[in-house]
Amino acid sequence: MSPAQKLEISCDDPEQKTTPGNLTPNETEILETVADAWNNIIRDVSGARTDSNIPANSDDKCGNFADDYVNIKTMLQTSSDGGGAENGDSEEVTNSGNGGGGKASSVLKPSPSVGMSLENLMEVPIGSSGKNGGSENGSATSMMDEAWEQLSRSYVYFKGQRVGTLAAIDTGGEALNYNQVFVRDFVPCGLACLMKTDADVDIVKNFLLKTLHLQGWEKRIDNFTLGEGVMPASFKVIQDPSRQKEVLQADFGGTAIGRVAPVDSGFWWIILLRSYTKCTHDYSLSELPQVQRGMKLILNLCLSDGFDTFPTLLCADGCSMIDRRMGIYGYPIEIQALFFFALRCARQLLKPEHDGKELIERIDKRITALSYHIQNYYWLDFTQLNNIYRYKTEEYSHTAVNKFNVIPESIPDWVFEFMPLRGGYFIGNVSPARMDFRWFLVGNCIAILSCLATPSQATAVMDLIEERWADLIGEMPLKIAYPALEGHEWRSVTGCDPKNTRWSYHNGGSWPVLLWLLTAASIKTGRPQIAKRAIELVEQRLAKDGWPEYYDGITGRYIGKQARKYQTWSVTGYLVAKLMIENPSNLLIISLEEDKKIAKPKLTRNGEQLRIHEVRKAGQSGELGGASVATAFFVSLERCSCVKISTVDSDVDEEANDRPLMLTKYPSFLTDASSHHGRTTTNYKLPICSFVPPL
Ligand code: GLC
Repeated sequence: MSPAQKLEISCDDPEQKTTPGNLTPNETEILETVADAWNNIIRDVSGARTDSNIPANSDDKCGNFADDYVNIKTMLQTSSDGGGAENGDSEEVTNSGNGGGGKASSVLKPSPSVGMSLENLMEVPIGSSGKNGGSENGSATSMMDEAWEQLSRSYVYFKGQRVGTLAAIDTGGEALNYNQVFVRDFVPCGLACLMKTDADVDIVKNFLLKTLHLQGWEKRIDNFTLGEGVMPASFKVIQDPSRQKEVLQADFGGTAIGRVAPVDSGFWWIILLRSYTKCTHDYSLSELPQVQRGMKLILNLCLSDGFDTFPTLLCADGCSMIDRRMGIYGYPIEIQALFFFALRCARQLLKPEHDGKELIERIDKRITALSYHIQNYYWLDFTQLNNIYRYKTEEYSHTAVNKFNVIPESIPDWVFEFMPLRGGYFIGNVSPARMDFRWFLVGNCIAILSCLATPSQATAVMDLIEERWADLIGEMPLKIAYPALEGHEWRSVTGCDPKNTRWSYHNGGSWPVLLWLLTAASIKTGRPQIAKRAIELVEQRLAKDGWPEYYDGITGRYIGKQARKYQTWSVTGYLVAKLMIENPSNLLIISLEEDKKIAKPKLTRNGEQLRIHEVRKAGQSGELGGASVATAFFVSLERCSCVKISTVDSDVDEEANDRPLMLTKYPSFLTDASSHHGRTTTNYKLPICSFVPPL
């Protein structure tokens, strides 16, 4: 297949081929076509026009087909959502406009897995079978049904309304704090509710408002008061006997195992708020003054001036999903990626009024600095590893290549074995003289979803997962971190933590909840086969094993030593993965599009540096991966469903089925006569990409 060949949208059945014509792999055209399709749907189905319903939102506020998807979804809701979000600072949050926390609306949702042409594809609602969206096989369907059942059992009510989900409903062991609603645990639960066919939006809205209310509490640990913006790690509903009423009790880290405040909670809260808004198109919630204030308080915690010389956020150990001592203090990738994601979501939701404009400017600057820092200094592939291995040390000036004075002898032996020729990843942590080379799945997947990873980096991360499948996926997806700390290292880094022994829990354990993140990243990069393989593994055991929290062992074969059963986010991690793989347009609820304005790093291929003007030119014209998100998304549509987005030339090797189509054509800056390679033919084998620290 040559780069000149065009994409064609067709169906499996040639008889029914109703292709709208050839599409060039040009993002604009693709998006325009999809936008047209939406307009057709709107005319056909509701006889209405979108224009009046699309608020004139700024920039990144979805000037693309994703918006139209949300618009139509909202327009066709038949529920009386009322639109009036309540006062977030009252404890009497009632959500009166939402029909008493009951079921939401009936929504016409586009399904890429059904239909023949693009228009049809968008018109037909996914599955007719209600809650599971129609699984292909019986056992998966029953597992989906069981998962929905488990989810509904986990609902936590406050004054008659659902406000969250229990972390686990394991009656077998001591509840500890698993009987609470964890903010981070609720995210996949909320997403499942938003992505299901009849989106159940009320619980998400209630959760967002309740946690916002809790943010307003004074947070004191001993004699020290935490920042105003800190969001709780968890909360629970208790019956106050003296006042004879239900009250909320929140934990801001004061009762957590390490007494550390959850840095991730606020970020997840903003991300979920954006998902809610994206799904419902109900801007009335995010535009509430209390909600705007809540966002600003969270951001003020992270954007305030200090002693920092890096744009990354300095954190204590145990401040995120890994909430015990695990050597992730400093600048852990999970927090940095969530920080970036939350900044970009807030950028879409913040109103410029009052002090908003100034905050937006600070956000923009930080987004640029943060992406530059992470893309350059956290990125590791074969070439970059080799560079670090050959680093000189003690370089003082601005021209230092080894910016953080990393001593090559500190590179652990396992990395040399682990690093494939194809692939790469963001390492766990970068700080003075310290690179934590461990792989952490959450940070890497969030980097893909938020477009913190460049398209080439995103592709390389998925390559790595494929190349190191046995290590990172094993028998039960997915490893939270790799490799495990053992022996002396385990003793000194974890403080001899008996829960985090090697290949257990946070220390190389396997967490089913992470399936949704892998699936989202796979679809986004046009590699849904990766997710499908992982889902198949999960389907063999997860329900039979009673939905455990985590698995132990090098391959994740054993149910975790202290794993809770019926862990809610194990259930909803599976549900969200299925909902996305069956309807990839659900990805748009959680994923962001690339922002062209963010400065691009200087790309090299096989160590050769591109000339700066070439990179700029490519960046300006959107060619440096510019079409990749849209194109990869369409590839996912094809790979998830019967719909084909095929090339005219069918002479494609088998292996290509799991490679992003965006790579089937070299960006024109590489086919340009002035490029180093002057390639003009298609080549699926991606040369290794690495990022060169600036001079
Ligand atoms: C454990 C996990 C944490 C999770 C909590 C509730 O503490 O480490 O990430 O939020 O359980 O499931």
